[in-house]
Amino acid sequence: MDAVSVIRAKRDRGELTAHQIDWVVDAYTRGEVADEQMSALAMAILLNGMTEAETGRWTDAMIASGERMDFSGLTRPTADKHSTGGVGDKITLPLAPLVAACGVAVPQLSGRGLGHTGGTLDKLESIPGWRAALSTGEMLGVLESVGAVICAAGDGLAPADRKLYALRDVTGTVESIPLIASSIMSKKIAEGTGALVLDVKVGSGAFMRDLADARELARTMVALGTGHGVRTVALLTDMSAPLGRTAGNALEVRESVEVLAGGGPADVVTLTLALAREMLAAAGADAKDPADALADGSAMDVWRRMITAQGGDPDAALPTARETHTVTAPASGVLTRLDAYAVGVAAWRLGAGRSRKEDPVQAAAGLELHAKPGDPVREGAPLLTLHTDTPERFPYALQALTAAIDIAPEPTAYDRPPIIIDRIDTQDTRTPHTP
Ligand code: URA
Repeated sequence: MDAVSVIRAKRDRGELTAHQIDWVVDAYTRGEVADEQMSALAMAILLNGMTEAETGRWTDAMIASGERMDFSGLTRPTADKHSTGGVGDKITLPLAPLVAACGVAVPQLSGRGLGHTGGTLDKLESIPGWRAALSTGEMLGVLESVGAVICAAGDGLAPADRKLYALRDVTGTVESIPLIASSIMSKKIAEGTGALVLDVKVGSGAFMRDLADARELARTMVALGTGHGVRTVALLTDMSAPLGRTAGNALEVRESVEVLAGGGPADVVTLTLALAREMLAAAGADAKDPADALADGSAMDVWRRMITAQGGDPDAALPTARETHTVTAPASGVLTRLDAYAVGVAAWRLGAGRSRKEDPVQAAAGLELHAKPGDPVREGAPLLTLHTDTPERFPYALQALTAAIDIAPEPTAYDRPPIIIDRIDTQDTRTPHTP
C-alpha cells in the first residue's frame, strides 16, 4: 500500500476500500504518511466526499489509533453531550450537574476554544483553583462520587484525530461533513459514553451556517453513533444570535450559576432543559424532571461538589475586567439582528479567545448583551458592554461589531427564531454503519 495510490483513488472520485482507509489512518498516525500527503487526501475528501461506509470505516480507524475508556464499572448509566460550537454556548456548565442530579453520570471530556467560539475548559478555568487536567483514575473518582466531571480529554483518545484536525485547520479542509462527523464521533465513541446527545448549531456563529448542511452533519453523526452501539440523538439549534446574554469566560460562568440558581436567560434555560431531557431519555433514566432539579437546588449542589472536587472554590469571586466600554443603541425600535459571529469575533479580540492553541486567554474578557433580538431598544440606552484587561483592544472589537446590529422602527412584526429548530433521531438516518 502507498499513499499516492490512496490519494489518486479519492482524487478520481473512487470509493476507498476498508484496507486503504485502515492503512492510511494508521500510517499517518505513525508518521509514515507525510503531512503533505494527508493534506492532499483531506482536500480530495473535502471536494469529492465519502460514502457512508467510508465515513464509518474512517471513524473506526481513528478510534483504533488510541485507547478506549470504559465506564461499565459505574453504578449509574452515562450520557454525554457534544456541541458543534457557538458563541455564548455555556450550556455544558449547568447541564452536566443538572443531568447528574437526575441520576445519570456525565463524563464530559471538553476542549479549549479556538477562534471565535469559546471552550468549556477556558470558561471553568476562570474559577479560582479549578483544574482541567485529571488522571483517568481521578476522573472516574469524581464521576462516581459526584456524578459529573468536566475535564480535558487525555492524549490517548483518538490520537489520529488530534494530528489530522491540526492539519485540517491549516490546510482549509475543516469544512467537510464526513471529516467533521468522523472527528467528533471517533472521540465520543472512544470516550465510552452509553448515550450521546449532539447539539448541532446552525447560523452565523456556527460551523454550519446552512440548515441543510447542519441536518446532513447531524444525520451522519447520529448514524455513526447508533452503528457503534451508542444511543445518539441530535438537536439542531439556532446560532444566528449569541446564546444567553454573555460571551466570555468568567461572564459565562456567572450566567451558568444564575441558571443553576433557578434564574438566567430564557434561551439558555430552554436549551439546557431540552438537552437534559434528551440525555436522560437516551440513558433510559427519565424518572425525574430536570426542571425540578433546577428549582429544588439539587443541580446547584452537584455543581458545587463538582467544582470543589477539581480544586475550585465555588464561593470565590470571579475575575472582573480592569476596563469596560459601553455601546449604546443608535436608534429606538426593535432589535432585529445581533450577529453571533460578530459578537464571537469581538469577544475573541477582547482577549476571551485565542488564535493559536498555545495562546493564553483573559478570564474576565468578553461581552454582556443588554438586549436580544426581539427586544425593544431606546436610542442612547446601553446595548452591549465590552470587558477587557487590555483597553487597546477596544477599537478592534468595536470594528468587528460595526455591521452586527439591525434595529427596526416600531411597530415591527419580528418573529424570534425558535432556539430548537429540529430533532434528528435514528429513524431519520440512512442505513446505520456496522463496524
Ligand atoms: N470539532 C471537532 O472535534 N472536529 C472537527 O472536525 C470539527 C469540529
